[in-house]
Amino acid sequence: TCGMRVLGIESSCDETGVAVVEAAPHGVPRLLGAALHSQVAMHQDYGGVVPELASRDHIRRVLPLTEAALAQAGLTLSDIDGIAYTRGPGLAGALLVGAGVACAMSAALGVPTLGVHHLEGHVLSPFLSADPPAFPFVALLVSGGHTQLMRVEGVGRYTLLGETIDDAAGEAFDKSAKVLGLGYPGGPALARLAEQGDATAFALPRPLLHSGDLDFSFAGLKTAVLTQARKLGAGLAARQADLAASTQAAIVDVLVHKAVAALRATGLRRLVVAGGVGANRALRQRLDQACVRHGWRVHYPEPALCTDNGAMIALAAAMRWQVGAWPPGGDGLAFDVLP
Ligand code: KG4
Ligand code: ZN
Repeated sequence: TCGMRVLGIESSCDETGVAVVEAAPHGVPRLLGAALHSQVAMHQDYGGVVPELASRDHIRRVLPLTEAALAQAGLTLSDIDGIAYTRGPGLAGALLVGAGVACAMSAALGVPTLGVHHLEGHVLSPFLSADPPAFPFVALLVSGGHTQLMRVEGVGRYTLLGETIDDAAGEAFDKSAKVLGLGYPGGPALARLAEQGDATAFALPRPLLHSGDLDFSFAGLKTAVLTQARKLGAGLAARQADLAASTQAAIVDVLVHKAVAALRATGLRRLVVAGGVGANRALRQRLDQACVRHGWRVHYPEPALCTDNGAMIALAAAMRWQVGAWPPGGDGLAFDVLP
């Protein structure tokens, strides 16, 4: 065939995602079907992801989700030309589930596999939106595990411009949410609460705001939120929304400031925002405003593709195939993961 239908499997952390993407030799690949299961409820009682439980649940979910994604696409396994899986970064046991299943299917079907970098999936995910970007662009990648600014020239052509030296932006949301008693992962809950609060109520630090480079630091902010919460004591309940809003404003301020600095420094005129925190409304509003002011374009993934999913993994593999970076043999059976 002259096209490529890719089945993608994501299992790096606490979502099992499977999707089918179809690529012609040129042009943006199309999403044909997708299925996702989030383990968030299962891990909630523990205040974080329990790796062993995550691995076991990926095993339970991955085949039913594969059937669901294929059914949605109106396809069967025999229509698949290649299988992509997340090679890393992530939890070793969780990654091994997706990698093992992908390589077993590949051996059974006689099609190649490709191990995909999870962050490449996030960065390319806006290509599945109604308004896909064009290369080159600056990518702001903000997830639970990473906060990076990248210069993206094309598929596989990424230059790191700056990154967090401690916590990730999503981690700052989640840890602050925990301090506020909002459960885990508290990022979305903190964002919801922040809508009702006064963002100027508490003066929280904006670490590295004027550092002159494109690096980030969020550990000090989390500590400041904790200190503020302790100071409020029993009064915290009444000020919860204000503290949430002030926390969100501090994180968003730094992200917007550094994204603007990256666009200025590179001279590029397009920004792509990806990763779970990219779903944050306050961040989107501020980035939209900044980009309108400078005449830059900003692209986001579809809301459902901001957090972890199989579609971005299938897409990254399909785009690699389009540029000849998915050799016919693929990875063979000697699969590995890079936690
Ligand atoms: O990309 P992702 O699904 O997983 C990783 O690869 O880490 O990102 C998850 C992170 C979590 O920290 C979560 O709290 C955060 O994204 N997040 C949000 C929002 N939605 C998800 N943070 C702030 N506001 C949101 N609306
Ligand atoms: Zn992710």
